[in-house]
Amino acid sequence: MDPAKWMLEAITLGQKGRITAPPNPWVGCMIVKDGKRVGEGWHESPGTPHAEIHALKQAGNLAEGSDLYVTLEPCSHFGRTPPCVQALLKAKPKRVFVGIVDPDPRVSGEGIRILKENGIEVICGVEEEAVRKSLAPYLHHRKTSLPWVVAKAAISCDGKIAAQDGSSKWISGKEARSDAHCLRAESQAIIVGSNTALQDQPSLNVRDYPSERQPLRIILDRRGRVNPSQADRIVGNELSLLDLLKDLGKEGILQVLVEGGGKVLASFLNEGLIQELVLYTGPVILGEKGLAVFDGVEIHTMAQAKHLKLKGVEVFGETVKLNWLT
Ligand SMILES: NC(=O)c1ccc[n+]([C@@H]2O[C@H](COP(=O)([O-])OP(=O)(O)OC[C@H]3O[C@@H](n4cnc5c(N)ncnc54)[C@H](OP(=O)(O)O)[C@@H]3O)[C@@H](O)[C@H]2O)c1
Repeated sequence: MDPAKWMLEAITLGQKGRITAPPNPWVGCMIVKDGKRVGEGWHESPGTPHAEIHALKQAGNLAEGSDLYVTLEPCSHFGRTPPCVQALLKAKPKRVFVGIVDPDPRVSGEGIRILKENGIEVICGVEEEAVRKSLAPYLHHRKTSLPWVVAKAAISCDGKIAAQDGSSKWISGKEARSDAHCLRAESQAIIVGSNTALQDQPSLNVRDYPSERQPLRIILDRRGRVNPSQADRIVGNELSLLDLLKDLGKEGILQVLVEGGGKVLASFLNEGLIQELVLYTGPVILGEKGLAVFDGVEIHTMAQAKHLKLKGVEVFGETVKLNWLT
């Protein structure tokens, strides 16, 4: 297999830690000797060994002279665990293939420099785009100190999130709603507006997907209309959305899921705070009086239109999931 294929396998391994690794990155590592895999590992949760350490342990003596594939640059600093580069120097692989340089200022090229200085060949940027996509929330957080914001809504074929009377159950199908629970599990916080909290009484927890962790439930409620027991945090007063995200970023939250309603989604969009948009389009039409997905975004002419990049399309029963990057 060529290096790209091994790196893609390492990405798949890393994804096993997608829900449990945050605030750490969900890194995967693969060790190959004479064309055969001799060790593999992924990072499960903070405080436990990193992917490289698991893979080196599995490979044992076979790690010497091997090719090691790791999705993110090995760490060079003492955190909750000792630096991985030291373990690598001891194991003496011949070559280390790195998916992407770690933007964390405590690493940021240092891990690669140490390996090279000690005579290990380092090849950077293998399948970098795929790695960038798989680690997007982590990379964004380390670069900006803000969480990656995913805006999500179930919409009708004509782009509405609720009927005129505010009812919205159910626009998307059962299978799609299960997928939305995976999105919740991948997020460390969920945000909704007070109208949604009052109208839908959402539980804001992960039910339909295996996860031992629950996201932080946040309701934006400036007028104190919501029952505080509905959330872990009620955000009132005049805290701006950016300041809220800054606080969440400081708490180590890598991904926030904004679940509406239309006014809250519009505020996030107007302030340029959305990185990813997930729309579950269900097989219904709600007409012109239905509620708009972005209620309060004014676009008067095509020249002002916001352009997005398609990330992916999936079909769940009769619901189409469209995934966009802003
Ligand atoms: N189809 C879907 O996926 C989906 C998802 C969610 C909701 N919904 C539907 O959407 C409807 C509710 O949406 P909505 O647009 O009326 O209300 P909303 O977005 O849920 O809540 C808006 C309220 O949140 C509070 N808020 C606090 N900070 C805000 C900020 N920075 N920007 C905007 N709002 C802020 C404001 O009330 P205060 O002044 O009191 O703070 C505001 O009136 C319901 O019918 C619900 O069923 C559908």
